[in-house]
Amino acid sequence: MEKIIVNGGQKLNGEVEISSAKNSVLPIIAASILCKDKCVIENAPMLEDVYVICDVLRDLGCKVDIDKVQNNIMVDTTNITLKDPNMELVRKMRASFLIMGPMVARFGRFKLSLPGGCNIGSRPIDLHLKGLKALGAEVDTGHGFVEVDVKKLVGNKIYLDFPSVGATENIMMAAVFAQGETIIQNAAEEPEICDLAMFLNSMGAKIQGAGSGTIKIFGVKELNYTSYKPIYDRIEAGTYMAAAAITRSKIKVIGAIEEHLRPVISKLQECGVTMDIQSDSILIDGSNAFKAVDIKTMPYPGFPTDMQAQMMSLLSLGSGTSIVTETVFENRFMHVSELCRMGANIKIDGRVAVIDGVNKLTGCEVKASDLRAGAALILAGLAAEGMTCIGDIYHIDRGYVDIEKKLKRLGADIKRINE
Ligand code: EPZ
Repeated sequence: MEKIIVNGGQKLNGEVEISSAKNSVLPIIAASILCKDKCVIENAPMLEDVYVICDVLRDLGCKVDIDKVQNNIMVDTTNITLKDPNMELVRKMRASFLIMGPMVARFGRFKLSLPGGCNIGSRPIDLHLKGLKALGAEVDTGHGFVEVDVKKLVGNKIYLDFPSVGATENIMMAAVFAQGETIIQNAAEEPEICDLAMFLNSMGAKIQGAGSGTIKIFGVKELNYTSYKPIYDRIEAGTYMAAAAITRSKIKVIGAIEEHLRPVISKLQECGVTMDIQSDSILIDGSNAFKAVDIKTMPYPGFPTDMQAQMMSLLSLGSGTSIVTETVFENRFMHVSELCRMGANIKIDGRVAVIDGVNKLTGCEVKASDLRAGAALILAGLAAEGMTCIGDIYHIDRGYVDIEKKLKRLGADIKRINE
């Protein structure tokens, strides 16, 4: 069982290079199913979730070569087949459901196990299915599976009750070969949506408006070769920015893009962090980060739910009372009990957490409950007095490339052990 051990109190310094966005690369690899033969994803993050979705494509007959030196992934769909995928493999990661749209677009039908919920919420897919039905598909669910069948997908107008990232992505991919025009209204506006649209357009798709609330997809006949470099991971960047703040340090985050991080930059500045913002990096000085601020997570361009836990670690230390409201997921406060074991003073009432800043956290044994909660506990450990031992770090490895190595290079006293 691997664990991460942090001895707190070290200042950070130097610079850290951010990897490509997990939440771009996963839908992009799913979208490669739409390419008639080969495509290449450059600078891909070598993460557990990326390996899983590559295995799912291999299971469908694709050739997938992962070059861990160049960090490139080559997908060749020449021999892809319409088969029921290995459901055990698919269930390893919810994001596998993103292959539904492309498989239906390519083959006219597909069967997948219903993605389970996870620790942060029930994670329904009703909006994904609403979109596929609007494009003319028959959708049957039962016995833990969902089957989609259609003779020909026909473009339509689809309104999303919630700007769901995954639903926007699945519908966009399903519509690429649909007859005529598809309009997605109240679409998700995350940068990863734009990245997916740019990847698809680089193969010959005709998608307009990605990044706005209204996306138009004009059906085309086929998609061809591309070699594509995804955007930097704005959540990984925000996590290291929060690390500088919580340790009151000054570091340079290479790959922190202002346009993708405006709410995080704004809230950190309200905390007292100062920044020198360049086109492809941010020099962040957390020396004076101690003020309490209120945060309410919202779909992009609001404050990202994926940064809520990390900010809560920061707000646990310092003076004043902060209110954190989680509006996106119904159960995304599981890091709170672990932070309280480290001495934080946080009370939860439904989707609202009230944080009274304390003057110190103390290290202890804690467990990661999900990806971002795990990152938050590492941040808390960096600032805590004594040793923090974080278990269940497989959650963290799903979304952060070499997190302990990158922090160690910044001066943290951190290591991974295998008990
Ligand atoms: C994506 O998940 C990300 N994952 C999540 O990142 C991120 O937190 C989330 O978007 C929100 O930004 C990937 O991109 C792989 P949603 P997704 O569909 O697509 C409701 C991380 O830590 N909803 O936007 O599953 C749902 O219940 C992960 O990197 C419906 O009601 O998120 C939730 O409350 C965690 N019906 C809200 O929308 C649907 O059909 C947001 O879900 C779909 C979603």
